[in-house]
Amino acid sequence: MAYGHFSPDGKEYIITDPNLHRPWINYLYNSEYCAVISHTGGGYSFFKDCRTTRLTTWNPENLYTDRPGRYIFLRDSDTGRYWSLNWQPICPEKQDFQCCHGQGYTIIESTVVRIKGKITYLVPQDELCELWQVSIKNEDTKERNISAFSYVNQILGDFQLELLFKNIFALYNEADFDPDLEAIIAQKHTWGWDRAFPYIGFFGSSAPVKGYDCRKEAFWGRYEIAHRPEVLVKGRCTNSKAYGENMVSSLEHNFKLKPGEETSFIIIMGLVKEKREAARLLKKYRDMNEVKRALKKINHFWQSLMEKVVIETPDSDFDRMVNIWSKYQLYTANTWSRSPSYYHEGTGGRGYRDSCQDAEGILSLDAAYTRNRLRTLATMHFKDGHCASGWSDDYGPFTDSPRADHPVWFTYTLASYIKETGDIDFLREKIRWLDGGEGTIFEHTLANLSYLWKNRGRHKVPLIGIADWNDAIDMAGRKGKGESVWLGIAFHRSLLYAVQLAHLLNKKEVEEELLDKASQMKEILNSPLGWDKGWYLAGYNDEGEKFGASECREGRIHLNPQTWSILARVSEGEREKKVLAAIDKYCDTRHGPVLLHPAYTTLDLGLGRITKFAAGIKENASIFCHAVAFKIVADCMAGRGDKAYQSYSKIHPMKQPDYEVYKAEPYVFAEYLVGPDHPYLFGEGAFTWITGTAAWMYLAATEWILGVRREFEGLRVDPCLPRAWHRCRIKRAFRGDIYDILIKNPKGVEKGVRKLIVDGKKIEGSIIRPFGDGKTHNVQVIMG
Ligand code: GLC
Repeated sequence: MAYGHFSPDGKEYIITDPNLHRPWINYLYNSEYCAVISHTGGGYSFFKDCRTTRLTTWNPENLYTDRPGRYIFLRDSDTGRYWSLNWQPICPEKQDFQCCHGQGYTIIESTVVRIKGKITYLVPQDELCELWQVSIKNEDTKERNISAFSYVNQILGDFQLELLFKNIFALYNEADFDPDLEAIIAQKHTWGWDRAFPYIGFFGSSAPVKGYDCRKEAFWGRYEIAHRPEVLVKGRCTNSKAYGENMVSSLEHNFKLKPGEETSFIIIMGLVKEKREAARLLKKYRDMNEVKRALKKINHFWQSLMEKVVIETPDSDFDRMVNIWSKYQLYTANTWSRSPSYYHEGTGGRGYRDSCQDAEGILSLDAAYTRNRLRTLATMHFKDGHCASGWSDDYGPFTDSPRADHPVWFTYTLASYIKETGDIDFLREKIRWLDGGEGTIFEHTLANLSYLWKNRGRHKVPLIGIADWNDAIDMAGRKGKGESVWLGIAFHRSLLYAVQLAHLLNKKEVEEELLDKASQMKEILNSPLGWDKGWYLAGYNDEGEKFGASECREGRIHLNPQTWSILARVSEGEREKKVLAAIDKYCDTRHGPVLLHPAYTTLDLGLGRITKFAAGIKENASIFCHAVAFKIVADCMAGRGDKAYQSYSKIHPMKQPDYEVYKAEPYVFAEYLVGPDHPYLFGEGAFTWITGTAAWMYLAATEWILGVRREFEGLRVDPCLPRAWHRCRIKRAFRGDIYDILIKNPKGVEKGVRKLIVDGKKIEGSIIRPFGDGKTHNVQVIMG
């Protein structure tokens, strides 16, 4: 593969050429502290919320240049030659370089003039700091005098305000070397406009400090020439403080290394409430054994997560994705939601819709996480069933601009949680409403559905407000009249899930009422109000004009209403066939199915942002991977194993035909691939890592392609495979037992279970009822 390769066990991606088209990144984190890091050490660190409690800066405008970063510069004191172990920001044409991204750590190595350097970056599981373990080895035959200069750019506080008011906010800075701590302490005199920033940043090392710099200008020189930091040119730090100026942290160490000698030290950086805490962390991690322990803990954590579900198929890329990287991406998306990406401007907070889907995706790996997330999500509900659009872990719920589709998501995750765990009592747990009082979890879900039912428009489908799943259709309902057919379809799916929940609770009347609503919705959706000749409409704008309809010049067909009509069992029989034919004919491309066709090329303020993006970009007719995952599930429900696998493979980051075109990381899904209507970027991957794709692709692979999925009664095994797959295996924990499932497909069919054998006994149907004995059970599935 261009630019690098996977390690033999698939757990690491090793980049061998630093000069990539885009930064290829990793997330190092615990539940509160996060370091987003690129292959050259670029990126930023934050605590809890990437907007409000930033430690370091990273300029989103510099997405491609990827600066600044966490650097270690080295200098040969005898010759004056200097370089960066990170390659950046000096970027020589040639440098022996390697970056290895693993689960929870990133290692950068470089050898220049026979000095080998290595930095291992990590964030301990249980402390609010990050560590850079640095080693320098003299591979020369003579003694060498080497100085090391660490470097990071602090801001502290609200990143968005820093972006807007950089010069003013720099006036509130204060950073200096603290001789007692032997570390730099950085402070900001304000948090936003009117609060004191309650934290201090610290930056220390385990090696004796020869010098330091806190003033950005002192480190770089006035013109900030990236390949000529003044401190490196001169060979020593200037011991500068930063008072009311841009601040950085840099520490200088001098080493005399005999031939073959290696030295190591640790950089410790974090955010604390008081100096005492900084002193504790510095003391702890100045001990190399503690750093090794931290790394061991990280490895153990990820290893045990990886073991929860393990698959084996004829496609090793598919296996590597599902067994390792999908889980890693999914966990990261759950922990940080969407804002701390390389592509967004770090607005902070987490979205309600995204969090619902992320929490469903992670169920088979960590159901307790999903339960807690469901509790938090329920606290975002108002009594009438509408939801806060999201929340920040730092400053709470966002109550303005609720999204019309948000009430539709909770029921899916809730039902899936009960299916995974059998924990029916959870439905009776009481949770407070955002506007006071409390209701059971089941009442919360009913309130959501009743909101959707009441808030329908003149075509009897739900109002679209300022967005359905598609955030970029943000103007169709500004006047309160626009409607979303997709949301009507998704609503039907929620109603079906809620019917099952009512049944579990033996609430017959509720069950019947929900069923009645579902059948009314289905009828409406299949009438000309929802169905437009060959496919389902996407919706109506405030003026009652259709979008996603055959009469439209642009955006004639939207993918989601079609795929969801299958997911929601709104289209069946002949209609389902028509829907699939329309998807194949209008949406499929060599890089995957587009979100809509053809792209919008003229601004339509009656539709919104979707028409502002350049054609083929983002929601405007890209191959939006989250929606591709919906399509794969729809294919599997319709028995199209080959089609499902083809779509999976087209957006699979490890299977891209040309990385000069794709450009993004080969180990995590992108949010989208640029669509065919773009004049020259068709196939480029963008907005990688934190996307709903992670959750849905994981579900698509495990629950739908391999077909091992939770049901209230037990574990269903109903694969939908590409015809060429004759044998697969999936081992999965379920309600305390382990199920080791071997799927045989001797006739090369796409779907259909002929025989199901559990522990040697043939059973009827395709559901394994849980044993609940904590043992491993062997299952054989014969398709045909
Ligand atoms: C982004 C958002 C997600 C939304 C999608 C489509 O991925 O995070 O919530 O559904 O875009 O607009």
